[in-house]
Amino acid sequence: MAIQWFPGHMNVTKKAIIERMKEIDVVIEMLDARLPGSSANPMLAELTGTRKKLKVLNKQDVADPERTTEWLAWYNAQEGTQAIALDAGDTAPAQRLIKACRELAPNRHGMDKPLRVLICGIPNVGKSTLMNTLVGKKAAKTGDEAGITKIEQRINLASDFYLFDTPGMLWPKITIEKGGYHLAASGAVGRNAYDEEEVALELLTSLKGPYPHLLAARYKLDKVNEIPSLHDEVLLAEIGRKRGAVMTGGRVNLQKAAEIVLNDFRSAILGRITLETPAEFEQWAAVAAEAEAERQRKKAERSKKKGSGRRADDDAADEQAD
Ligand code: G4P
Repeated sequence: MAIQWFPGHMNVTKKAIIERMKEIDVVIEMLDARLPGSSANPMLAELTGTRKKLKVLNKQDVADPERTTEWLAWYNAQEGTQAIALDAGDTAPAQRLIKACRELAPNRHGMDKPLRVLICGIPNVGKSTLMNTLVGKKAAKTGDEAGITKIEQRINLASDFYLFDTPGMLWPKITIEKGGYHLAASGAVGRNAYDEEEVALELLTSLKGPYPHLLAARYKLDKVNEIPSLHDEVLLAEIGRKRGAVMTGGRVNLQKAAEIVLNDFRSAILGRITLETPAEFEQWAAVAAEAEAERQRKKAERSKKKGSGRRADDDAADEQAD
């Protein structure tokens, strides 16, 4: 079962974002540096058009520094895009954000041509934390201005630098299966949308190859070299046993073990981890795009048949495909 996540309240903001976009010069997308591909909103390109983009890889303090460097290079190579890495401990994020945005839109400066920036990101990515840091001493918050809805907020980071906040953002259907699991593992997805044991097993698949030493250290596992080739179920059961998640009769409580693994990853007790590389993510995206194209092809075929005697099971198939 893949993760499906439709955060209803986020739909409300799509219209607001499209409306606001008309007057925006740079779009900042906050990403989780531990999943810099999966935490990017695939609908953003459609909503932002040709606007310049700043990708902020947040929580870099808990991400793998080598992989962060790789992701920054990957995003920086994209047209009209700059990428920086930040974390909550960064004492001067405002200066770095302002500098990067100004470089992206050098023609916007001065009171008559202020730089207008929109910031968005998935839940739990750290947007409120960053906004609070930004609001700090320097910035003035303004809200009751024509055209700014209640759900938006404008912060003046400098006299000619406006930052517009969006409380949430529409997320389309999750088509990259692995991406859905990584989002769930990070805590961005509502608890009711997934099964913890399933997500923990997928998390272990992503961890055991690049980070066997971190798993061995945290859970006191022997034979670190054998961890990458262990079955995920065996690994989860072993972790459960080591952490005392055992039921009467000696069976491992896999649900408890799953909770332990997820909590340890989310709170970074496991160590500095990035779940995906740009190359892996590109590959998953290509597979997902192929599957989506196939789905669309089948759908078109079915609707072609429509005229020549459509059957009830065709309708059912369409419904399932959508
Ligand atoms: P959101 O507005 O995007 O939903 O996210 P928010 O700022 O509420 O941050 C979500 C969690 O991520 C918070 O932890 C916050 O402390 C943590 N966080 C934000 N930025 C960073 C960062 O750069 N590095 C690290 N390591 N953590 C960060 P929490 O446990 O949910 O709450 P709290 O008790 O820490 O406030």
